Amino acid sequence: MNFLLHNPTRLHFGKGKLENLKNEIKNGTKVLLTYGSGNIKKFGLYDEVLKILKELNCEVHELSGIEPNPKLSSVRKGVEICKNNNIDLILAVGGGSVIDASKAISIGAKSNCDVWDLIIKKETPSDRVPLGAVLTLSATGTEMNPNSVITNEETKQKVGFAHPPYTFPVFSILDPTNTFTVPRNQTVNGIVDTISHLLEQYFNKSENGELVDRFCESSISYMMEIAPKLLENLEDYSLREAMMYTSFVALNGSLSVCGGDWSTHGIEHSVSGIFDISHGEGLAIITPHWMKYVARKNPSKVIKLGERVFKLKKEGISDIDFCDKVADSFKNFFKQIGVSTSLKECGINEESLEDLVENTFVLGDVIGEYVQLRRDDVREILKMSM
Ligand code: NZQ
Ligand code: ZN
Repeated sequence: MNFLLHNPTRLHFGKGKLENLKNEIKNGTKVLLTYGSGNIKKFGLYDEVLKILKELNCEVHELSGIEPNPKLSSVRKGVEICKNNNIDLILAVGGGSVIDASKAISIGAKSNCDVWDLIIKKETPSDRVPLGAVLTLSATGTEMNPNSVITNEETKQKVGFAHPPYTFPVFSILDPTNTFTVPRNQTVNGIVDTISHLLEQYFNKSENGELVDRFCESSISYMMEIAPKLLENLEDYSLREAMMYTSFVALNGSLSVCGGDWSTHGIEHSVSGIFDISHGEGLAIITPHWMKYVARKNPSKVIKLGERVFKLKKEGISDIDFCDKVADSFKNFFKQIGVSTSLKECGINEESLEDLVENTFVLGDVIGEYVQLRRDDVREILKMSM
């Protein structure tokens, strides 16, 4: 349990907090405003942000069209705009993809090397253009962490990286009302992603992590409890607020103090790198199969999870059968909230198996912590997920 925890992001949480941009941004700042396909224009946030930036006499440049599963080409465009215009601040308005791309832009803009070399950690940044975020989708926790995930569309490699402290947003504004328009399917993806982050950290190998385990168990239970209610009431403030809070707490570092496994994410990034499916969808498919597979090597935490979260009774059942029941309970929950539960449902079949295996090991030959996985293990999990 030895760790260093340093989270420098100032988080403004609650209704109307967009006004706090006025405290965070100095008069006359040269801003690069980044966003996605334009949903922020449909629900009025773009105009609100622009109005504030104008009041602050900011010089505003824009990078729009950042894709879900953000692509290296968008990052490169952003780096160029920053370098050509001496940008002082990047303001990302969107979900995880927009914020992640903006993190990569922020370090790329202050480096002389190719930004991809920073992403794959061949090079190290020594500065960044500060980044502020206005979050519109609760899921990734990127609003309060140093992580970013970028896809190189030429090689199909989807790489997660972090360069703390440079890739932490300086500030993030989280107003639950800005997530009211997130459609049902993206809300589902966010629920799955949040649960997955809690699971990945639950599957640490620490022997003294009981409190972290309990935080994770109760947060998973809570997400599963509110999910059906939220999906019936997408504009319910309290439920959007609860989800927004859970999703940043789930990945802002405080639950990572005992480590974590992250294999499911590694395998999912391979799938969405090649097939561009939603991150949450990929996680929902892979998680139950990963769980069944690792339980055959180390069932202890899967058993604990089943007893604590699903209140399943272990007596009279073998470890393997019990763990299968736990994994099936997750699968049923994912099915119930309407997410795909097999790769074939997403049009992915055995023909792509070897590419998916290889693409999982972009940065090394082993993934995982609770159970370490190599190519043969990942091949089996992917086969089970077909
Ligand atoms: O294109 P725009 O207009 O932005 O629309 C987006 C996009 O189509 C839309 N959306 C966002 N907010 C909305 C909205 N639509 C209506 N109303 C709103 N308020 O939703 C779609 C998906 O957005 P995206 O940003 O891609 O979703 P998410 O936040 O789930 O981010 C996913 C990306 O984050 C990565 C994933 O791999 C994926 O690339 N992750 C990042 C992590 C991190 N940085 O810590 C950790 C995660 O594990 C994850 O890997
Ligand atoms: Zn995730």
